[in-house]
Formats: sequence, C-alpha cells, structure tokens
Amino acid sequence: MSDQADKQLDLGILFPPQVEVAVRRGAAAGELYPEEAALCGRFAPKRLREFAMGRLAARQVLARMGIEHFPLLKRPDETALWPEGITGSITHTDGICLVAAARAPIAALGIDAEIVSHVTAELWQQIFTQREAALLHRLSARQRQRHAAAIFSAKEAFYKCQYVLTGEWLEFEDIEVAVTEENEAFLRFAVRPQRTLTLQQHFAPLWHGRAAFPAEDLVVTGVVLSRTL
Ligand SMILES: CC(C)(COP(=O)(O)OP(=O)(O)OC[C@H]1O[C@@H](n2cnc3c(N)ncnc32)[C@H](O)[C@@H]1OP(=O)(O)O)[C@@H](O)C(=O)NCCC(=O)NCCS
Repeated sequence: MSDQADKQLDLGILFPPQVEVAVRRGAAAGELYPEEAALCGRFAPKRLREFAMGRLAARQVLARMGIEHFPLLKRPDETALWPEGITGSITHTDGICLVAAARAPIAALGIDAEIVSHVTAELWQQIFTQREAALLHRLSARQRQRHAAAIFSAKEAFYKCQYVLTGEWLEFEDIEVAVTEENEAFLRFAVRPQRTLTLQQHFAPLWHGRAAFPAEDLVVTGVVLSRTL
C-alpha cells in the first residue's frame, strides 16, 4: 500500500458517526510524549514503530474530540488508559495503524486490521468453528479468502471490545461470526456466543459489527457496544 492509498482509506462505514477514526502510517519515537516514551524501554525497533504509530494516531483522534496533550499510557494488562469518559481501540498491521475512539453512550469498541492474504488455510483450524469452516468451504475462492480474513479480524475486534468491559479471555471457539450482508467494499457480521460470556451480564447477544476492505489485501473490522442500542 502506498501513502497515496492510505489517504484514500474509506473507513466511514465501519462505525457510527460519533466514533472518531484515525489512520497512521509511520511515526518517529521522538514524537512520543516523555511519559509514553518511558513505556518503550525494552521494545524492539518494529514494536517501537507500531507503538509510536498508535500513540500518534490516538493523539489525532483525541485532538478531534477536544483533548490535547494527553499521554496515552497503558495498564499492566497492555490496554490503553484512555481519558475519563472516552473508550478507544488501537490496531496495527504491516506498517499501518488505525485508532478509533468515542464517548458515552458508546461503552466499548474494538478495531482490528489484518492482511487478507495472511489468513491462510493452515490457520483455519485454530480460528474457526466447524460451522464457520463449513460455510467458508461453500464460497468461491476469492469470497472465501475475504470472509476468512474478515471473520478472523472480527473475532479480534470483538475480543478487544468485550475485554475493556469484562477483562475476560476468550478462545476463538467461544464465539461464532456469521456474515449477514456484503458488497464489494464492506460486509456486516453477527457475533454469537458459543458459551456464556461475562459480557452477557451487560449486553444481551447478538452483537454486530462491520468489516471494510479499504485497500488491496487489507481488511479492517469494527465492533461497537452502545448503552442506547
Ligand atoms: C490483544 C490482542 C487482541 C491484540 O491483537 P493483535 O492483532 O495482536 O494486535 P493489534 O495490533 O490488532 O492490537 C494491539 C493493540 O491492542 C490493544 N490491546 C492490548 N491488549 C488488549 C486487550 N486485552 N483488550 C483490548 N485491547 C488490547 C493495545 O492498545 C495494543 O496496541 P499498543 O500496545 O500499541 O497500545 C491479541 O494479542 C490477544 O491477546 N488476543 C487474545 C486472544 C484471542 O485472540 N482470542 C480469540 C479472539 S475471540
């Protein structure tokens, strides 16, 4: 993907309009706030670059929400420590980073990006339930690759979203993702629990999300839990 392609990433359909999204490709560690840089002591260069991209994208999103000069620190469990009243999510893959954030009534959100061609058949057994795999097998090769990547990414986005509210670890087989609608640029999906999840104490299933294919070989998914929905 070129920088030009980045500028054209259309992520408008991923989230409701009150969610702010920023895309970042490249960032220098020198741009971090000192408090953020202090978290990077043992990072390898690749990890330092992706961490810096995330913090710079988060800064962009927070500025749009009226919050300036806010070092985005992290909890011991590696989740970001967003300002009071704001929930957000960070993802990086292959040199690109995306950040989404929102205020109440959105209670939590998750964003995830994956390289479509990296979700190879060898990974299927780890990621998909038998029913998910059976449905994938019925598709054409191209559609199968798109759905496989979107479902994998959807599981990661959903995991991040629910974790912020519950702190609960999930295995891939704990949820099932089904595509409910699609066109060339995006698809919608439903998430069904396969066991009782802690999240069900707060939000009744089904849950829903969207996936976008904003550049060649890239899928980005978003899941939002809102108290008013
Ligand atoms: C946390 C996790 C989802 C991150 O996904 P990833 O594809 O490796 O990495 P991404 O770049 O998309 O996301 C990384 C960001 O997620 C955030 N994050 C880390 N742990 C998190 C958690 N438990 N919940 C929510 N967000 C988390 C961080 O902000 C991190 O970026 P940063 O360290 O630069 O701040 C993954 O590493 C993980 O632990 N998964 C749990 C098990 C799982 O996948 N179960 C099956 C899904 S149902």
